[in-house]
Amino acid sequence: MEMVNLYINGKEVGAPAGSTILQAAELAGIQIPRLCYDPDLSALGACRLCVVEVKGNRLLPASCVTPVMPGMEVFTESPAVIEARRTILELLVANHPLDCMTCDKLGDCKLADYCYQYGIKESPFVGEKHDYLCDDSNPFIIRDLNKCILCGACVRACEEMTGQDNLSYLYRGFDRKATTAGDVPYAESDCVFCGQCVAVCPTGALTEKTMAGQARRWEIDRVRTTCPFCGTGCNFDLALKDGKVIGVLSNPESPVNGRSLCVKGRFGWDYIYNEKRLTTPLIKKNGQFEPASWDEAYDLIAARFNEIKNEYGPESFAALSSARCTNEENYLVQKFTRAYMGTNNVDHCART
Ligand code: FES
Repeated sequence: MEMVNLYINGKEVGAPAGSTILQAAELAGIQIPRLCYDPDLSALGACRLCVVEVKGNRLLPASCVTPVMPGMEVFTESPAVIEARRTILELLVANHPLDCMTCDKLGDCKLADYCYQYGIKESPFVGEKHDYLCDDSNPFIIRDLNKCILCGACVRACEEMTGQDNLSYLYRGFDRKATTAGDVPYAESDCVFCGQCVAVCPTGALTEKTMAGQARRWEIDRVRTTCPFCGTGCNFDLALKDGKVIGVLSNPESPVNGRSLCVKGRFGWDYIYNEKRLTTPLIKKNGQFEPASWDEAYDLIAARFNEIKNEYGPESFAALSSARCTNEENYLVQKFTRAYMGTNNVDHCART
């Protein structure tokens, strides 16, 4: 791999040719603030928070879209850079509701984090503010465009991660919006509610509806698990507050799916607390289901299987397993069918 040597904050660093300054800095352990940059998405250079100073360049280029050059001298924390970042943040909060006290994203909001880091409490810029209606027309996602910073992460995620292309920019100037075709609510658009847009949103513009008002982000415990809905094996984190599941959060370390999930994986977990969910075996007696112990249920199943096998022979039995089971469970199904019931009548829903 061809390497390029450059200097960042006076230190010589190497980076693969074609890297951006931001990527080279990260390789060297130097963090540059960013709002629109996301390693899973194409670089856009929209927010400008990642500006740096490059010797010989009178402008401050955005490091997430500026390629490294041999011998380049970069300064990530010079006075000019700090001042530019403060101004960028002041411009962003000029049209941002400063309601962090009640915002569900606080604790996981990059805008709030950077405002804290750069000491931005309010904006000196005054003028018209957006007053969009909050879109909670669907059961999964709350979309508050008053908190959108037009970083375009949701637009890129919808196109590049999901391929759904449901989001785009509409209007121009102050009215510019990242929204659906025709600017309709999510529920009326082609949205498939995979929630990738929520996973990449750096502010409170897009949040999980189930988690609204449930917990501050730092109160949430994350427990990594595997999605039970199909055989793909996606991983995600269950979000728990006081031991109770309140949502699902993407985990970028997931080997199968990264941060991508489908609507079922991300939002279809509420069955956990459905009161109609069976919590004990039921055995039909006199035409009525009655609660039974697991021992009673297993004894009944074993007796009936033995009856069938003895009366009609092994070939009268067949087992159909499921991609929703684990590998171990599927192994046990075929093992039981072949070794005990004495038949190879085993099939699986994922085979067709
Ligand atoms: Fe580089 Fe937004 S992170 S322009």
